[in-house]
Amino acid sequence: MLTIALSKGRLAEQTLDLMEKAGYDVSAAREKSRKLILEDGKSGLRFILAKPADVPTYVELGAADIGVVGKDTLLEEGRQLYEVIDLGFGKCRMCVAGPAALKDKLDDIPNKRVGTKYPNITRNYFEGVKKESVEIIKLNGSVELAPLTGLAEVIVDIVESGRTLYENGLEVLETVADISARVVVNRVSMKMKEDEIKPMISKLRQALSEGEANT
Ligand code: PRP
Repeated sequence: MLTIALSKGRLAEQTLDLMEKAGYDVSAAREKSRKLILEDGKSGLRFILAKPADVPTYVELGAADIGVVGKDTLLEEGRQLYEVIDLGFGKCRMCVAGPAALKDKLDDIPNKRVGTKYPNITRNYFEGVKKESVEIIKLNGSVELAPLTGLAEVIVDIVESGRTLYENGLEVLETVADISARVVVNRVSMKMKEDEIKPMISKLRQALSEGEANT
């Protein structure tokens, strides 16, 4: 039996579509209910529906063998996992964003205040990569409000279509990382359940490459 942690929401749907294409029976996981564990005895798969930010925790600590989660969450959580497939969907960018007036002037502001839902990614980027100290203000959503209200000079956040930034008069100032959904595997499961996990990785890769060939 393999336990797969899905990120509740759109990512879960896209993951199930891909698994179906790869030949797995995921009908149990499609069940419309409020159940959080969906199990199918016949297929030998058990799905758990977790908050995206918790998926790496379930997988690192072995409560799930496999997880599907965005690279943003993996970077933020910094868990010890094997990242085995880039699924290519859930694509977006982690960016530093702010008023257009700050374009190319970001480095001129000392001790910037940065609003974000991703304090670890923000710290790694400014302090690790840019060697600059910043004040990180942890927010829980609607992060674009921070530069608009004077709470912070800039934000670090996900940009997908760019519409939220545009409609709030903000712009991408720098790109921190490219994001997409990834398959992660618990390090012990990879060895102990190799017979089930390795074929699953191959089948998913195959289904992905067939999908690419058809586009
Ligand atoms: C995310 C992100 C941006 C927005 C980007 O927010 O934090 O605000 O989507 O998407 P766009 O570039 O296509 O406009 P989410 O919808 O998760 O809500 P939140 O503000 O509560 O974080």
